[in-house]
Amino acid sequence: MKFQVRYYSRSGNTKSLAESIAKAAGVNAVSIVDENSSINEKTDILFIGGALYAYGLDEKIVDYISKLDAAKIDKAFVFSTSWISKHSITLLKKALEKKGIFVCKEFIHFKNKPTEQELKKAEECVKSIINS
Ligand SMILES: Cc1cc2nc3c(=O)[nH]c(=O)nc-3n(C[C@H](O)[C@H](O)[C@H](O)COP(=O)(O)O)c2cc1C
Repeated sequence: MKFQVRYYSRSGNTKSLAESIAKAAGVNAVSIVDENSSINEKTDILFIGGALYAYGLDEKIVDYISKLDAAKIDKAFVFSTSWISKHSITLLKKALEKKGIFVCKEFIHFKNKPTEQELKKAEECVKSIINS
């Protein structure tokens, strides 16, 4: 099984969650602003996360998703650290589904900077997903 983890993070909260997810999946977490963030090989699960900034996702992640090659991605799993609402989860799902990418109904959402306990919970959640 091939996994990829991509995220957009301004202040590190989503990055921290992405790194725990990546650790559980045995891969590196890659920021969507990095040069090597494109997905060029067949991927079983793309874990992708972002947060809300003034009620919306950052344009960079919206643009990144719009350029994904759906043929290379079997399914996506979304995560977020937005503070007040989980609307980020809905927005990520909608953007991926618009591309024709299947999105798992489960997701991971913690408010702002995840605690050590929450990061452990995320790792366990990802391990159970990839082993199911
Ligand atoms: C300028 C700004 C606007 C924000 N707007 C929202 C918002 O509309 N809704 C919300 O739930 N959280 C909002 N937040 C909180 C962030 O989504 C939250 O802190 C998130 O963890 C930031 O992730 P990051 O550290 O990965 O960038 C905002 C944060 C900033 C800095």
